[in-house]
Amino acid sequence: MKVVIFGLGYVGFTAACCIASQGHTVIGVDVSRRKVDEINAGQAPIVEPQVAEMLSEGLAAGRISARTEIGDALEGAELAIVCVGTPSATDGSHNMGYVADVSRQIAQALKAGPARDAALTVAYRSTFRPGTCEGLVMPIFEAILGDGAPVEIVYNPEFLREGSAVKDYFEPPKIVLGTDGGRPNAAMEALHDGIEAPVFHVGYREAEITKFVDNTWHAVKVAFANEIGRTCLQLGVSAKQVHEIFVSDTKLNISPYYTRPGGAFGGSCLPKDVRALAHIGADTGANLPLVESLLRSNEAHKHRLFEYAAEGLEPGARVLMAGLAFKAGTDDLRESPNVDLARKLLAAGFALEIYDPAIRADMLVGANLGYAYSQLPQLERLLVSRDQAGKGGYARVIVNNATAKDLDLSGVETRDLGSLA
Ligand SMILES: NC(=O)c1ccc[n+]([C@@H]2O[C@H](COP(=O)([O-])OP(=O)(O)OC[C@H]3O[C@@H](n4cnc5c(N)ncnc54)[C@H](O)[C@@H]3O)[C@@H](O)[C@H]2O)c1
Repeated sequence: MKVVIFGLGYVGFTAACCIASQGHTVIGVDVSRRKVDEINAGQAPIVEPQVAEMLSEGLAAGRISARTEIGDALEGAELAIVCVGTPSATDGSHNMGYVADVSRQIAQALKAGPARDAALTVAYRSTFRPGTCEGLVMPIFEAILGDGAPVEIVYNPEFLREGSAVKDYFEPPKIVLGTDGGRPNAAMEALHDGIEAPVFHVGYREAEITKFVDNTWHAVKVAFANEIGRTCLQLGVSAKQVHEIFVSDTKLNISPYYTRPGGAFGGSCLPKDVRALAHIGADTGANLPLVESLLRSNEAHKHRLFEYAAEGLEPGARVLMAGLAFKAGTDDLRESPNVDLARKLLAAGFALEIYDPAIRADMLVGANLGYAYSQLPQLERLLVSRDQAGKGGYARVIVNNATAKDLDLSGVETRDLGSLA
């Protein structure tokens, strides 16, 4: 396969070496004359294990060449890969100027070049804000080539890390291919032939957001580790041992648990202990801005769930909430996000009823009783039996937990707040 790579920085140059080593022919295009001259002279423009040897082999086999102008590079090519930089603009967004520039050059070269037998796949590896393929890249191709342009746009995020770029190229944690409707693309299948990794065929936007999700998660992990490390340091606790204990728990800690978007956190432990750790941080001088932000983030989420629950309802509409306790089958209402939701729905003027067979208002005691009544003084009046709930007539049933399984909800509009995924 003939592959043209635009942008010969860390991502593009590494890709050029790796793709050439698989037997494909690679033409690299970069605006930097210095980089292009270095590559053609056998000098790697980046310092990275293995790339210098791979470049020498690629040049010797005639499979790698570089140039500053696109010229006729696309003639006979099946695949173009765009790896130009997307540096931060002054407002924090990505500057997409280089991406727009390269897209225009590719479209103009296709227009000026000979008619093609098959579409050119243009795969973008630069980091894109979701919506860029559809909102920036495609309009550029359409403006220059019109409808039915002989191109297939793919978004294929790059997961390599500097320092282990070649290894990461051949052993990626996953391959994500964003296309129109998630349809597989032949050139990308050929490019990834022999590379073992889970493959995700998704739409453009899901592929585009992947890098942001991953990189932000990695940043959260580092910031969290350092906040816990600082706290340990201030308290004279061994951060090393704490880390060992933490990572040994692959059931709840290092696992998919608690990562699915849905309900807010709550209950008798999480909010209380997060608040107390934030206090320890302030008290000892560890200062824990990430930990401190968690409760604010949770409040923001609770409000968004309320908006979602109430969206489109007529004023004063009759609404049933299935599940009030934090967990189905328990009567612990302390800091249950569902209690907050009920309070917000009542304050917004909806005619609320609550079905939760585990809750008996006359059986609540102690802190549980105090919390429930301070938040929902009307609790006794709001609770309905299964028979009453079964009579229906609700504008919407809000599903908070597994309690809803008791009810026949056929024909009723429901909103499940436990899962946004
Ligand atoms: N570096 C990484 O580890 C990494 C990992 C994953 C994703 N990414 C993303 O990949 C993209 C590229 O990153 P990088 O680190 O390789 O950047 P880089 O700055 O090292 O390289 C970008 C290259 O693009 C060239 N360029 C700019 N405009 C051009 C044009 N019009 N035509 C041809 N070439 C042009 C530049 O001269 C430069 O050589 C960025 O969006 C980045 O966020 C980087």
